[in-house]
Amino acid sequence: MRKKVTVVGAGNVGATVAHRLADKQLADIVLIDILEGIPQGKGLDLLESGPIEGYDVKIKGTNDYKDTAGSDLVVMTAGFPRKPGMSRDDLLKANFDVVKSTIEQVAKHSPDCILIVVTNPLDAMAQTAFKVSGFPKHRVIGMAGVLDTARYRTFIAEALNVSVKDIQGLVLGGHGDTMVPVPSYTTVAGIPIAQLMPKEQLDKIIARTAKGGGEIVNLLKTGSAYYAPSAAVAEMVDAIFNDRKKVLPCAAYLEGEYGIRGLFVGVPCKLGARGIEEIIQIKLTAEEQAALEKSAAAVKELVEIIGV
Ligand code: NAI
Ligand code: 2OP
Repeated sequence: MRKKVTVVGAGNVGATVAHRLADKQLADIVLIDILEGIPQGKGLDLLESGPIEGYDVKIKGTNDYKDTAGSDLVVMTAGFPRKPGMSRDDLLKANFDVVKSTIEQVAKHSPDCILIVVTNPLDAMAQTAFKVSGFPKHRVIGMAGVLDTARYRTFIAEALNVSVKDIQGLVLGGHGDTMVPVPSYTTVAGIPIAQLMPKEQLDKIIARTAKGGGEIVNLLKTGSAYYAPSAAVAEMVDAIFNDRKKVLPCAAYLEGEYGIRGLFVGVPCKLGARGIEEIIQIKLTAEEQAALEKSAAAVKELVEIIGV
């Protein structure tokens, strides 16, 4: 039987996630939003693209959580995006209320689903979803590292004029200005980045990556990125539904890994049919470990404000 995915929030990220999942024929899709007509209209429009694009999945837009019942996976994108001059953290309180109320409904109607959280501030919202749902930690996953790493890989490939496919990298930590691109695990077709690029140039790329979301916000002026974020979600869903055991950086609930306890922070995770099947612990340089701890401290501040 085909899998069922609910996408909560039919805005830019949610609708584009639905499009990508349909395109890859990964699941039947329910798109739900608080706005009346928007999920129904976008859902129908996506469904009507099927005969042209060649996908053959069910897509339904709704305002009723009953339609989401029995979902295998739920992508949480409901909330408000950043506006120019606004940090991800400014979104904290507004999006906490949205995530809390929607996850209560999701957990009630799809108690066995895997949750992928996208709403910002990402790590604090993943923690909110974890606490509100009461789901085991392997079924609550935050999407940020795949996106941040894609940006990092893009900038390196551009600077070296090589294929993005040759760039391997990792961006860990919270999805904020303190995120931690990891030079010691950055390679170009297996060649350590330090052999191909001076440190000062890589430092500039690291700084640009950390502000990558803001760069798009400043260009768009209304709203934030959604093409790369939705591509990141689709890669995670594909890894889970096809049990790929793919190692991807995701926000995961840590219980002592990397010296961090009781917090969602981005780390390398093995994604398979059960969700997060393993948190992979890699050796970091002292500088990288310190940056990860600083990033975790920034997540902790937010989590304490909302009390989750
Ligand atoms: P958007 O404004 O286009 O869409 C958000 C949708 O959520 C709207 O349609 C709105 O009606 C809906 N919504 C609000 N309250 C709701 C509720 N209680 N129940 C159901 N739906 C509700 O925003 P966009 O661009 O889709 O971004 C969504 C979220 O994802 C934002 O918080 C944004 O910051 C975050 N984001 C996170 C990324 C990451 O890397 N983790 C990347 C990109 C966006
Ligand atoms: C991004 O990084 C807004 O968090 C979002 O694009």
